[in-house]
Amino acid sequence: MITLSPSLLLFCLTVSLLLLLLPLPSHCADPDPLQDLCVADLSASISANNFPCKPLSEVTSDDFVFNGLRKQANFTDAFGVTVTTGNVLSFPGLNTLGIAMNRVDIEPGGINPPHSHPRASEIGIVIEGNILAGIVTTKNVYCSKVLTAGQVFVIPRGLVHFQLNVGQKKALTFTAFNSHLPGSTVLPLNLFAAAPSIPVEVLTKTFLVDEDAINNIKSKFVF
Ligand code: GLV
Ligand code: MN
Repeated sequence: MITLSPSLLLFCLTVSLLLLLLPLPSHCADPDPLQDLCVADLSASISANNFPCKPLSEVTSDDFVFNGLRKQANFTDAFGVTVTTGNVLSFPGLNTLGIAMNRVDIEPGGINPPHSHPRASEIGIVIEGNILAGIVTTKNVYCSKVLTAGQVFVIPRGLVHFQLNVGQKKALTFTAFNSHLPGSTVLPLNLFAAAPSIPVEVLTKTFLVDEDAINNIKSKFVF
């Protein structure tokens, strides 16, 4: 049997305690960049956690400007919302910077339906209109508030949230994230419009309804 001296035992205990207290990587947002800039080379065939950087000699001023959030989008989806994303895929200059931004246009009565961002917390500012912004915690506690121009809301990473336009005119909100690719799990699409489809039996058993009810919902999401 191995016996440890009291001082060695104390040392081991201290090191174990320190390791336990150290923040684990899963608590972090995107990793910090290790260079001034790394404009994404989206066409590269390999990528790890970030996209590779395009050669510095090919970087131009345009790589640091994004025009995609300037215009009001057309409302094309069933929910009456258009979310225009300014993440690393549309704005490669964000690569490795750990930030991204969306423009959210919602028509009167429209909704940005319940969704969550697996890789980022979100902060948003209402520019026009009145929205009901709601979140649900992992303990199923619902928090919400009607917000108007100039008010700011925050959504902790991973929590389900939505915005409903409760005003008479269009609502415009800009949102920002602490990830260059926050991801978005839109619950109704995830469950009812996945490809290939989730088996109907899974959905009938999950929602405690019959097949007709599930097929009825699914039929609304054939875009
Ligand atoms: C709003 O919730 C957004 O994800 O932009
Ligand atoms: Mn969101």
